[in-house]
Amino acid sequence: MPKQIEELPLVGIQLNFSSDVPLYKQLYTLLREAILTGRFKGGQKLPGTRTFSNELNISRNTVVQAFEQLIIEGYLTGKIGAGTFITNDIPDKIFDSRKTQPSTKNKIKSTNFNIGKKNVHSNLIHRNIFEDKIIPFQNGLPSLEDFPFSTWLKIINRNGTYLPYLQFGYKDSTGYKPLKDAVANYLQTYRAVNCTAEQIVIINGSQQGLDLISRVMLKEKKNVLLEDPGYFGTRASVLSAKVNIFPVPVDEDGINIDYAIKNYPKSDFIYTTPSHQFPLGTTLSISRRLKLLEYAKKNNAWIIEDDYDSEFRYNGSPLPSLQGMDKFNRILYIGTFSKVLFPGLRLGYLVLPSVEMVEPFAVAKSIADRQSPIFDQIVLSKFIEEGHFTKHIRKMRMLYKERQDFLIDEIKKEIGNLLKVNPSNAGMHIVAWLPEKYNDKKVSSLAKENNLIVYPLSEYKLRFNQKPALVIGYTGFNKNKLKAGVFRLKKILTSYKN
Ligand SMILES: Cc1ncc(COP(=O)(O)O)c(C=O)c1O
Repeated sequence: MPKQIEELPLVGIQLNFSSDVPLYKQLYTLLREAILTGRFKGGQKLPGTRTFSNELNISRNTVVQAFEQLIIEGYLTGKIGAGTFITNDIPDKIFDSRKTQPSTKNKIKSTNFNIGKKNVHSNLIHRNIFEDKIIPFQNGLPSLEDFPFSTWLKIINRNGTYLPYLQFGYKDSTGYKPLKDAVANYLQTYRAVNCTAEQIVIINGSQQGLDLISRVMLKEKKNVLLEDPGYFGTRASVLSAKVNIFPVPVDEDGINIDYAIKNYPKSDFIYTTPSHQFPLGTTLSISRRLKLLEYAKKNNAWIIEDDYDSEFRYNGSPLPSLQGMDKFNRILYIGTFSKVLFPGLRLGYLVLPSVEMVEPFAVAKSIADRQSPIFDQIVLSKFIEEGHFTKHIRKMRMLYKERQDFLIDEIKKEIGNLLKVNPSNAGMHIVAWLPEKYNDKKVSSLAKENNLIVYPLSEYKLRFNQKPALVIGYTGFNKNKLKAGVFRLKKILTSYKN
């Protein structure tokens, strides 16, 4: 079928009827300007004189006069009445020299905004990473090619046909009820979370959970304890609330709660990743879990438990959540589908300690974005109910374990003298320790220049220095890519000079 040529819309063509400049001249100038600035492009078709006449409220004769002038000057081709087109061969030079420049009249300084790059870690703004290829060793990236998109599409097709259209209006901002039921069921069974569907708010990924907690619960000067090193997304979310941030060091048993007890006798919020500390990868020991709960109770503080990748546990069964051990109802539990399914889905859940707390979160969610996209929630709820979700997790757990083992073997074989790595019991990344004289930020930027992503551990720190190390994600890459990544890393590390 021949390609249909769409006519240009007459947006931005506005005549001034009280001006002394003749209307045909005004129309001529506006069209010429649109062509020279590249807004109307070579080959595009102008609407007919009748459309101009009707839409602009001018006579067809006026339009013909303007067109004739533009044809004479070479801006338009064709025959008036039979189709008029923008000329194809207007020299680029004209376009370039006349192209609309970004306005410099209102110079806006970044300090005029409350939020900007200065507030957030560059890793939170993942722009461009996916533009053309997936580069090792981006962290937290599931194996996208192994996601069962055909099953997902079948569910879309099935439900797209049978769903009552009523589902597509404005809905409950806390989420689609069957999805909340499915999540509650999953969390009780697999994460030992103590909850009902009524305590759940469906969110657009963990990041929104953190943002909603900040909006609803944080007040200026509240004391917020963060793991150090820790997740930059949390820091970015709490910053705008102008709270006091208190770093708590992390060791092989997770967040050092004894340090917090000793140094911060008053706290209001504690953010932690107990199942798999981000980024060091340690697990919060049982005795520390109990101390942390006790400390929160004593302070009347809230614990934000970010359970972002606990499903991927490679030795033994997944550890139960901290929430399941909490008898004092102090935990705001956040989970995400970004890791177990795919980040672009932008769905997650926030489990509140009591049903009474749902109302303010429902309001905050409505203010932020009214609700999460309903169709994705419907598809996801079916995906879970029909058993595809747990099946996919099981499959990915095996695949990721294999990838981690392969990566560690490759590193040991190729650069074991320069990078020290230990297997990680869980998660989607490993920490690789550099020789002490290496600067991890410098290694990371050299890697970037060589099309490789490795994260310097020092970038996650708040106060406590760490030995130089790289955070290396492995789950999103097949063995060939992992091998190629190690090869590139070897080149960078062996030619490194301080
Ligand atoms: C500690 C931590 N929490 C949460 C997330 C997931 O964020 P989201 O659900 O917004 O995609 C990540 C992703 O990298 C993470 O590292």
